[in-house]
Amino acid sequence: FEISDHPAPRSAEQIQKVLADPGFGVNFTDHTAVIDWTDQDGWHNARVEPYGPITLDPAAAVLHYSQEVFEGMKAYLHSDGSIYTFRPHANAARMNKSARRMALPELDEHDFVASLEQLVTADKAWVPGGEGEALYLRPFMFATEAFLGVRAAKEVSYRVIASPAGNYFGGELKPVRIWVSRDYVRAAPGGTGEAKTGGNYAGSLVAQQQAAEKGCQQVLFLDPLHENAVEELGGMNVFLVTNDGRLLTPELTGTILEGITRSSVIQLAKDRGLTVEERRITLDEWDQGVRNGQITEAFACGTAAVITPIGELVDGEHSIASTGTGEVTQALREELLGIQTGTVEDRHGWLHRL
Ligand code: COI
Repeated sequence: FEISDHPAPRSAEQIQKVLADPGFGVNFTDHTAVIDWTDQDGWHNARVEPYGPITLDPAAAVLHYSQEVFEGMKAYLHSDGSIYTFRPHANAARMNKSARRMALPELDEHDFVASLEQLVTADKAWVPGGEGEALYLRPFMFATEAFLGVRAAKEVSYRVIASPAGNYFGGELKPVRIWVSRDYVRAAPGGTGEAKTGGNYAGSLVAQQQAAEKGCQQVLFLDPLHENAVEELGGMNVFLVTNDGRLLTPELTGTILEGITRSSVIQLAKDRGLTVEERRITLDEWDQGVRNGQITEAFACGTAAVITPIGELVDGEHSIASTGTGEVTQALREELLGIQTGTVEDRHGWLHRL
């Protein structure tokens, strides 16, 4: 990575001002890591540049056909001043899986991890250290070739940007109200649901707007083929906790995003002696379970949202009552954040020093 630093990065004072109240995804650091790809030369010209607008041909394929994939991860500040990220090779592997689905080139895992190391090294003053805070890292790859025929682009760009982040939902951690989408689906077998690609999120926005109109912060998508079967939220996986020590989550069928937080939660739950069931879960089971006391907790998880309790689930005129913030949810959240921020032993070797 060649490093260039013009214009000058912001001052320590300016950075501190942003870190005092980082929000989510609104402020960006001083640099971006970039690697170019062409079908002739493969990946080349790895560099760290000042953060700024991208010059793109108006015919760039990404702007027309959404040939794009992305990742979400975080860098955590530990008490000794060192900075770590979490399971970066899992993100690298997932990005390549998404890239294969979107006919984009794969990037060597070591180059992926090196791009994070280089960016965070350049922007280490931007990693916040408050409770639940981290530097959100957004690697993404997109088709830059100027060509309107529909085929895989021969010119592609990979970038990483970084954004200091607090709670995804803003303010203090509290249960989020969820709207069940009956008008829209997120994914179907053979589609792109499993790929982390912008179109899946673009397609969720109108449902998310409906949710907001109903006073909800997130939308829950259902399986189009199996009645009332739960898939995932707009950008997070879903878990339920039972009163007999089970953790339930929809199985990965190819239409659900394979969350790295999801897989970490499954591991931490097994470590605690919970029985994890990855299987089809219906809203009827959720509803009945909450009514008869079998389902005691519900939470959503993702890199951005960490582990966030699910409040009331609004399904048209019907509602499934909130189970509040349960003990298991709280314990899993604390343990996961503890590992990430270095206060709980990293027994699975998930941390990677940047
Ligand atoms: C993440 O959790 O990192 C995501 O990619 C989801 C998005 C809603 C921010």
